[in-house]
Amino acid sequence: MDKQYWEKVAPDNDNQIFDVLKNDKQQKIVAHISSIASREKTVMDVGCSVGKWLPLLSASFKKVYAVDIADKYIELAKANNAHLENVEYIRTDFSKARSKFPVCDAAVCINAILTPSYKKQINFFNNLSRVVRKGGNLILVVPSLESALYSEAMLCRWDFSDGKKKPGTKRHKGDVLHGAIDIDGMPTKHFLREELAATLTLEGFEVQATEKIEYTWESEFTNPPSWLKAPYPWDWLVVAKKKQ
Ligand SMILES: C[S@@+](CC[C@H](N)C(=O)[O-])C[C@H]1O[C@@H](n2cnc3c(N)ncnc32)[C@H](O)[C@@H]1O
Repeated sequence: MDKQYWEKVAPDNDNQIFDVLKNDKQQKIVAHISSIASREKTVMDVGCSVGKWLPLLSASFKKVYAVDIADKYIELAKANNAHLENVEYIRTDFSKARSKFPVCDAAVCINAILTPSYKKQINFFNNLSRVVRKGGNLILVVPSLESALYSEAMLCRWDFSDGKKKPGTKRHKGDVLHGAIDIDGMPTKHFLREELAATLTLEGFEVQATEKIEYTWESEFTNPPSWLKAPYPWDWLVVAKKKQ
């Protein structure tokens, strides 16, 4: 999942990327962004992709830095948000050690730490720590390993109930021990709640809240059975503050 990969998926990806903003039915992320927002503060959207979060961030902060690894995503984000005057676009790789970027009052990073490379993950967390000033805020959303395992368990239960495997149903594969689960054939890092807490603490953050962003079962399966109800599959949302 390097620059080359994201440049390749970018051109036709406007509709393909799972839309967290739309699918967060309880609007938890929006509520957390609103709680830290101020027209006096700067914010960085790390891994902005096509820029879905930029209208909200632009209206809530003094200045927004929209950052992505892929030139094509930066172009798409710019084109989609040409009317927003307080957004500056920066192409940089957050998984490289000591990438260059401005320090901000807050950072929002939604499903961008996906690389299965441990070194790149650690660089990414370290850069998030470098971007947020002391006392500043981080809102982080990542895929949940617990949720992926739970979905797989429910899929087995579904097979058992029907007495047959579902042809064409997405099955989780990958290096589960390291949280690298395949999504559309691409190993994608999924995190444990405790792993996130420990990693963010090591990077100088104080975790203030960890919550589930719950999605419908349709986000996992085609035509899920009617008995498949709560708990629903989820991503982890972590709200953290950079220690003084
Ligand atoms: C799944 S998309 C999420 C997009 C967006 N945050 C959203 O919620 O709609 C992941 C985005 O992160 C970007 N990305 C992945 N690795 C990155 C890196 N190392 N540095 C900066 N951006 C990265 C990708 O190019 C892509 O635009």
